[in-house]
Amino acid sequence: MTLARGPRPGPAGDLAWLDPGPLDPGPLDPGPEAVHGSVLDTVGATPLVELGRLFARPGVQVLAKLELMNPGGSMKDRSARYIVASGLADGSIPPGSRLVESSSGNFGVAVAMAAQLHGLSFTCVVDRNASAANVTIMRGLGADVEVVDVPDEAGGYLHTRLARVHEILATTADTVWINQYANERNWLAHYHGTGAELVDQLLVPPTHLVGAVSTTGSLLGCARRLREVCDPLQVVAADAVGSVIFGGRGGYRELPGLGSSRVPELHSPDEIDRVEHVDDATAAEACRELLATEAIFAGGSTGAVVTAVARLLDDVVPPARIVAIFPDRGDRYLDRVYDDAWLDRARARRVALSR
Ligand SMILES: Cc1ncc(COP(=O)(O)O)c(C=O)c1O
Repeated sequence: MTLARGPRPGPAGDLAWLDPGPLDPGPLDPGPEAVHGSVLDTVGATPLVELGRLFARPGVQVLAKLELMNPGGSMKDRSARYIVASGLADGSIPPGSRLVESSSGNFGVAVAMAAQLHGLSFTCVVDRNASAANVTIMRGLGADVEVVDVPDEAGGYLHTRLARVHEILATTADTVWINQYANERNWLAHYHGTGAELVDQLLVPPTHLVGAVSTTGSLLGCARRLREVCDPLQVVAADAVGSVIFGGRGGYRELPGLGSSRVPELHSPDEIDRVEHVDDATAAEACRELLATEAIFAGGSTGAVVTAVARLLDDVVPPARIVAIFPDRGDRYLDRVYDDAWLDRARARRVALSR
């Protein structure tokens, strides 16, 4: 079976009104000279790389979609660009308004980039797990960054961050809350972006799709696009130990971007076939192995994805083609994933959890 191409469908019915389709010529069409109008135009068109060194199994191919190569450093560049451009286009984001969002860091950087280039203001509420680098980058992009440090009852910071967002919305004029956990354009960005690219990049359809989840937007967007042309497709979510998305008990965790301490409105469990919960230490160990074998320097949630792939391989019957989404780069995790003392502490937490 080969992948059918052709005109891209969009979501039907109720959602059609908020789907402007693929918004931009993007990096595929820079014009007669290869010059882009802004760095936003370079979001996407990320490469696929075979992980033949880390996963050498006869009849099984594992391909990594290197979303970490996006200009802001992560796959969240896609959601931010799409949400801001489509909001400006349909008037739901008035020109000159102030965007407000809660983010673990990557989405904040991505929105700050889009806001700056579109002349919008931006307040980002982060928590103490956000990397210092992301906070510095956001401030450099002109965003106001507020850091909350009171954990919520689920052990994360999401509820505290959201409470602060509501305060800002109630007290500041001309504010627009992006709300990535409920915003349908979050998954649509990946439906038209990452998912559509995978359809274009692959001649032979994948049998499995593995992605890290928090809002679940990226995995759902890719899955929805791929499922239009791949049947069957098993969709595997890599979630954090201590995340409540799939009903587990909330708990302490330190890797930003992975997992959630509340169930996102976008969540659609029927579309996810398998969930692998990965603790901080295991994710970090997988990142280090990925670097040592494939020379790919990736962030913590990529380690969770790699771990989910490794567990999946125990059950996969060849032939299989697994696509794994690698969300962000490793350089903003030097003080965590790639720091030996941090890893020792994460390992101690893992031992404590297993008792
Ligand atoms: C590094 C990283 N991995 C995974 C995710 C989860 O992606 P999604 O929110 O699309 O589920 C995020 C989201 O911010 C992220 O920053």
